[in-house]
Amino acid sequence: MVNNNVYKAKRIINHMTTKQIYELAVEMGIKADLRGKDSVKKYLERTKNKYESLNKEAKSEFDREKLLNPYSDTRILVDNGKKQIKKILAGIDIDGSEMLLAREIGDIDLVISHHPTGKALADLHGVMDLQAQVLADYGVPINIAESVMRPRISEVARNLSPINHNRSVDFARHLKLDFMCTHTIADNLGASFLVKLIKKENPEYVADLIALLKKIPEYKAAGEFNAGPKVFAGNPENSCGRIVVTEFTGGTSGSKEMYEKMAQAGIGTIVGIHMGEEHRKEAEKYHLNVVIAGHMSSDSLGMNLFLDELAKKGVKSEVCSGLIRIKR
Ligand SMILES: [Fe+2]
Repeated sequence: MVNNNVYKAKRIINHMTTKQIYELAVEMGIKADLRGKDSVKKYLERTKNKYESLNKEAKSEFDREKLLNPYSDTRILVDNGKKQIKKILAGIDIDGSEMLLAREIGDIDLVISHHPTGKALADLHGVMDLQAQVLADYGVPINIAESVMRPRISEVARNLSPINHNRSVDFARHLKLDFMCTHTIADNLGASFLVKLIKKENPEYVADLIALLKKIPEYKAAGEFNAGPKVFAGNPENSCGRIVVTEFTGGTSGSKEMYEKMAQAGIGTIVGIHMGEEHRKEAEKYHLNVVIAGHMSSDSLGMNLFLDELAKKGVKSEVCSGLIRIKR
């Protein structure tokens, strides 16, 4: 009888709704944020003050989720009010085909995309100011970091505007599937994991850093299909100098003007998820080493840390769309 009660209590704790899963995602994202919890708290307070100073019309247009969630690219997109989410389908990109896969699997209650879509994609640039603060924490003066990031954030906003943001959201609605995206929260989890590991192991040479990354199962698995960590700028024989994990979280690629400032701030090696050729050339020009860990593998690392937490709370998951599932 006692055992039965314990079991029931545990079952009640394990019941999660889509809203609770979302709240857990935001809580974990804040805890892992490279800016630190206090800095995020200040950021939220500032958002609240800005909101309160708005007129009635501007207030009605304001996304009130921003008062509690500092990540504009992490949102619930469809919530059918299900009482319990037993099983989810998680993937790096979710579109109609993955939605049909969810229906084919049959017992999926909620679909989670890593990359943002819907309103979270339309406001992806809203999370990019995180990058300026992270750079400031690594020694780039905040006024320079902000002034270099600002035009890039506007550019990203303009590039996002013509996209058919709600395509997959409409698909989920028709199939009556709950749907959310967890972008920067997962990237924060991955970045924080790497920062701690690099601090602990302190690799001396670029080759040592690559070897360290290859020990992480997601990168090892990616290496098996030719997508493992790679040196994009510099040389494996180079000394790392000061290693920073800057191109990992905060929406999308930052400003290429930043590399000169990073070199001046004493940074030696950048660890990133992906990097375009223009950015790579600029980093190389300023003698920075660039180690690109890999895109799907890095996104998987962050998502896995989140899915592990959901598993502890009794939510089962299936994965698709490039997500390499490793349980810890
Ligand atoms: Fe990504």
